[in-house]
Amino acid sequence: MYKFSRTFSQRLLTWFDKFGRTNLPWQSNPTLYRVWVSEIMLQQTQVNTVIPYYERFMQAFPEVQILADATLDQVLHYWSGLGYYARARNLHRAAQQICTSSNAELPSDFEKLIHLPGIGRSTAGAILALALGQRYPILDGNVKRVLCRYYAVEGWAGEKKVIEKLWLLAEKNTPRTHIANYTQAMMDLGATVCSRSRPQCGLCPFNVDCAAHQRGCETNYPAPKPRKTLPVKTTSFVMLQNSLGEVLLEKRPMKGIWGGLWSFPECSSVDDIPKWCQQHLDGNILKCYTWQSLRHTFTHFHLDITPVLMSCKADQTVTLKNILWYNVNKPTALGLAAPVVRLLAQLTHTGELLL
Ligand code: ADE
Repeated sequence: MYKFSRTFSQRLLTWFDKFGRTNLPWQSNPTLYRVWVSEIMLQQTQVNTVIPYYERFMQAFPEVQILADATLDQVLHYWSGLGYYARARNLHRAAQQICTSSNAELPSDFEKLIHLPGIGRSTAGAILALALGQRYPILDGNVKRVLCRYYAVEGWAGEKKVIEKLWLLAEKNTPRTHIANYTQAMMDLGATVCSRSRPQCGLCPFNVDCAAHQRGCETNYPAPKPRKTLPVKTTSFVMLQNSLGEVLLEKRPMKGIWGGLWSFPECSSVDDIPKWCQQHLDGNILKCYTWQSLRHTFTHFHLDITPVLMSCKADQTVTLKNILWYNVNKPTALGLAAPVVRLLAQLTHTGELLL
């Protein structure tokens, strides 16, 4: 009975005092800048993965001006392996906008904040709530799940009508005080108790009146995205190593997958490798091995990559723009696509060098 008489936010705040996360790195000294960077990293990525990246990033770029002055390669270097690289490009672009248009400080105004690249309604709300205690609702994936279950909201949570409904519910439950704790608590409850596949309803402050729990079907909410099976695309990576042990990398165009990151030169298929070598290396190949394919999955497709390891002389010229010879033992600070990191490690660890 007691529990029913307390509001949604009161119950959540009591839970937060006991079980909420209070030692996350961005919670110490939660300035707008520190919270902004953390919220961008936490979009689509879990806390435990983010923490070491966040700490390294903050050491390298402790202020927005330093981030704005860095090159995109430096920023992508600290983002390498975290995925969704558009986040890093937007962060860098936003830092430059902040430093040219305002006094090198993040705006504390919702309308200004939401116009920066990479900041949507939920992220803007979370930044202002967590850093300044301003009253804005949030609606990230975790919060959507909590609300969908508590109110048994039907439909896929990416659909416009469902999203609108969830925003109204998020707004309605946001309290007038203790905003920062409430905001963190919603995210924490979603991440730790109201988890996607194994919710721990016994530990939840809402178990007495959560609609999905009452019906015994928590995991039916939120309804999954109506999915088509992902298409499979294929490509081949040219892993060219010279007699000094350096590996050829090519900078990818800004638009498209791994935009602005460094990767192996690509060839549409293994069958086209001889033509590629003729075109770009004048055919000067010493040895050539085809490795087993690996799969990298993006949001919209699988990419099956066949790496082809080849060797050439140290003074080989390559007719490609934006290339460098990468020394695995003395790596330059730049952003690498995730499968490239994997393949370079494989190349050194297996000692499969062609020298
Ligand atoms: N996900 C998004 N923002 C978060 C935060 N501040 N803490 C934990 N998980 C989050």
